[in-house]
Amino acid sequence: MENIALIFWPIPVGLLTIVLGLFLLRETSRGITRDGDYKEKHAKNILIEEIKSLADSHETAAVLADLIHKDGAGSWPPRANHDHSTWPEALRVYKEIYLELAPLLPKVTPSLDDDINRACVDDFRSCFRQKLRDRVDLVRVRDLLEAAGAGRWDVFPRDTYNAFYCCIASSRHAYRWATIPVVKVAQLETVVDMPAELDEPWTYLQRHYGCDSPSGNNTSNLLLNFGTDGEHAFKINTGMPESITSSEEAFARIFYNVELLGLPIYHDMVLATIRFAQGDKVACLKHVARITAQLRPLLNSYYDHMHDGKIARSVWLSHVQGFFAWGVGHIDKTSNEWVKFDGLSGNQVLLFHALDGFLGLEPYLSPRDQERNVPARQRALGKAFKKHSFRRMVSGVLQGGTDAKIEEEFSEIVKRIRVFRSAHRTRAKAYLSQPAPERLPMTAGKSLLEPSTGESIRFLDRFMVRRLSQTV
Ligand code: HEM
Repeated sequence: MENIALIFWPIPVGLLTIVLGLFLLRETSRGITRDGDYKEKHAKNILIEEIKSLADSHETAAVLADLIHKDGAGSWPPRANHDHSTWPEALRVYKEIYLELAPLLPKVTPSLDDDINRACVDDFRSCFRQKLRDRVDLVRVRDLLEAAGAGRWDVFPRDTYNAFYCCIASSRHAYRWATIPVVKVAQLETVVDMPAELDEPWTYLQRHYGCDSPSGNNTSNLLLNFGTDGEHAFKINTGMPESITSSEEAFARIFYNVELLGLPIYHDMVLATIRFAQGDKVACLKHVARITAQLRPLLNSYYDHMHDGKIARSVWLSHVQGFFAWGVGHIDKTSNEWVKFDGLSGNQVLLFHALDGFLGLEPYLSPRDQERNVPARQRALGKAFKKHSFRRMVSGVLQGGTDAKIEEEFSEIVKRIRVFRSAHRTRAKAYLSQPAPERLPMTAGKSLLEPSTGESIRFLDRFMVRRLSQTV
């Protein structure tokens, strides 16, 4: 017996070693991740502290610091606390209602019958209305919003305020469309009366963020839809097959990641601008070169996700895009005319506004569209970079040396944005050409389009081609 034990003892020891090895490997790799997360957060905090410390010396730094503090709840991308158990009690019910209704929104295959769809939209809305009426205490909600308006962020912390913005915006879009995929009968509506419980808070939120539109925007519905642990909060395709839910999340995450990778770029834009103003062109060059280098991973986060493998073309138009549209309006009291509002679009993304401003390009969006759909402090950043843009002041051909190198870097940045814009054009068309028989041609950002898909795409293409030709 002893002999047998002697012969076989290496087996349990070997097994133990393997198990221990695997455990250590797992712990080490966890450690690396934890350490990596820690390092990333640390690096981000350093950038934010530096931006704050520059606020007194330059307008671009002041505007960026203000954005991070007020809209970002101290960070960027903006922090949103989606753990509603920590929200002030009167607000929790909004998220609870959303979560109860979310599974009723989507269908794998929509009906093509207008009467059935009308009934489905009406039922969803009346159920939503009833739940809000029964459970929301508007007086207490108003008190909280008043407190925040008066700067009482101890009562209503900024990261909760951000999450609440996303909650109300998502609820408004759920009420607006009432079913996913969105259907013709809802698209043809011109006015939708929102319940007071979704309208009143919206007025406060509009005022705080500085957006006039009754619809949500890229910030309220997508950027703020990720919690501090990276969780995706207000989903629209609850209970649908994986290909749909993962496409929805991958799409939303692109916008979050663009801002995540955008922060170091904003930081370098500020520093490049300051160093140029100080006449330190060598330091300025270093920062412009860093922008060029950091654009590669940032744009890759778009190229690597905006394709059929990550966001299925067969589901995007019907199950993702429609919900983010708006396409209804109201009668304007002064002109007595119907004013229509559009919904979300990539054209509201801060990074592109900031880059365009830094390069001295005119904004893509009209002032009216910016005021409707881009938060005021984000608009201010694009404007500040444009005001202090020094690109046209460096002329390498005449002066040589550092100026020439700065100019080269600027040309490289422009080249990379042009590549993005032409890739975006091709990809956008591929997604927009998918069949969606339940609805009329529409984009979230431009609402109802031409009667046929082909005409609609030609109409949209004009915007993208024009922007490409302006990117010089
Ligand atoms: C399948 C997904 C997408 C489609 C079909 C699409 C479609 C379009 C269309 C048709 C336009 C021009 C019309 C308009 O301004 O409304 C546009 C503009 C724009 N989109 Fe997208 N888009 C998609 C995703 C994205 C993403 C993920 C981003 C950025 C992360 C983005 C960024 C932009 C920008 C910045 C503009 C303004 C024009 C420009 O600066 O080039 N889009 N998009």
